[in-house]
Amino acid sequence: MAKRAAAPHRPSLNYHLRIHAKAPDALRHVIMDIARAAAYVRRAILTTEAGLAGAVNQFGEEQQKLDVLSDEIIQQHLRESGLVHSFISEEQADVVELDPSAPYSVVFDPLDGSSLVETNFAVGSIFGIYEGGELIGRTPREQVAALYVLYGPRTILVYSAGNGVHMFILNDVGEYILLNEHLGIGDEAENYSPGNLHAFKDNAGYRASMDRWLQSALTLRYSGCMVADIHHILSKGQGVFTNVGGAKYPNGKLRLAFECGPFAYLVEQAGGSATDGTMSILDKRLTEIDQRTPLILGSAHEVARVSEELQSQ
Ligand code: AHG
Ligand code: MN
Ligand code: MN
Repeated sequence: MAKRAAAPHRPSLNYHLRIHAKAPDALRHVIMDIARAAAYVRRAILTTEAGLAGAVNQFGEEQQKLDVLSDEIIQQHLRESGLVHSFISEEQADVVELDPSAPYSVVFDPLDGSSLVETNFAVGSIFGIYEGGELIGRTPREQVAALYVLYGPRTILVYSAGNGVHMFILNDVGEYILLNEHLGIGDEAENYSPGNLHAFKDNAGYRASMDRWLQSALTLRYSGCMVADIHHILSKGQGVFTNVGGAKYPNGKLRLAFECGPFAYLVEQAGGSATDGTMSILDKRLTEIDQRTPLILGSAHEVARVSEELQSQ
């Protein structure tokens, strides 16, 4: 009888999706195509001159050249996969339909933290995957997978297909290799990561959280790229990240579809929580592609404390 080959010590993303996650083939192919696109985005970050593209996106934000390029790279891979019905991108004003007979739809932020590229801080890409074609009217809980890629000193991919959160590293031949089988988030935070801190001026609840943090043993960890800041939480196994409303951005700065939704899925899969202060981000219905939501995410007890402080004002 033939001898059975041993399981690889350091499985690749493809093997992990097939054997560990038991992802349907089509979902595995979509994730592999996204992962390949991200390797090209990484290459673009290394080789493209930083700077503005001379255009604004749907939010009126000035697009960086790399925002546009990353969007094109990812769009091309989604189109070529033949498995993507529709997508929502931060850089496109409408839902884009690719193939009405395809099984999945994708939401993405092609380059998160793009204004940081010139500083050589870490930046990332964020993706959420839904079954079917309609994206408007869905909730992030309906995602069948979510992932992000962090372009730092190392390129790291973190995904969940509904059975835990797994971390991979991109090697120099373009393969993603397993680094950590299960990322978990404990209930108490030691680090805090407060976004949209201008809101502190007109949101007394946020001020209460900030005052408490400053007087506590918690340590600040904030880079201005939510992929890097939330990856800090997932890799350290603790922390809290916030981006809540104030006068300028009443619902905070972050978008439900392609920023908060995918991260809420990943963080809840890791045992943390993600709320807008009153309800789980996973249950918020997507009514518009540019919908913003307050976000408090990370270690469950700390998320609950901040939510109480925000509501008590
Ligand atoms: P993007 O580069 O896709 O526009 O997103 C940047 C976001 C997010 O990554 C970060 O958490 C937030 O903007 C930063 O907000 P503050 O400037 O208020 O810290
Ligand atoms: Mn972003
Ligand atoms: Mn972006």
